Amino acid sequence: MNWQHFFIRNIIISITGVAFTALKSASTSSDGVIRFENVLLNEGNGYNSATGEFTAPTDGVYVFSWTILTKETEAIAADLYLGSSRKARLFADARGGTTSNSMDDSASNTIAIRLTRGQKVSIRVDSVWDNFVDGNNWSSFSGHRIFIYITALK
Ligand SMILES: *[C@@H]1O[C@H](CO)[C@@H](O)[C@H](O)[C@H]1NC(C)=O
Repeated sequence: MNWQHFFIRNIIISITGVAFTALKSASTSSDGVIRFENVLLNEGNGYNSATGEFTAPTDGVYVFSWTILTKETEAIAADLYLGSSRKARLFADARGGTTSNSMDDSASNTIAIRLTRGQKVSIRVDSVWDNFVDGNNWSSFSGHRIFIYITALK
């Protein structure tokens, strides 16, 4: 475990690092939360590969990035949700592709967002469009905390 120590006057505050990277191993064709099963990093244990959700261990500002690859003939919207609220979107469109030209498409997005402890973040497939998400590590979800708030000092 990595501990960063901040010495502020007489106060010592210890903060664990929070960072995760998860890749998608199995390709799936389903709406709703995307599970990225192959966890490369999970400092702070915020990411749950069984549910696909990240739970904020503390209040703070977090950065999330996600990449989704879809296959020829399909288009997909894969959106970042904070709880049940959609905060950001991406769209990958491979409808011009055919099996013979093998033209897939991927898209990525990155956002910074303020979370309170216990809030959940997930990437979800919008049922309005198609839903193929390529596994084999082509699709990924990662995040890390960049700020915390020390309310005692306000
Ligand atoms: C995906 O990543 C994992 C861990 O790095 C690796 O063991 C596995 O072979 C990779 N799979 C593919 C298809 O690249």
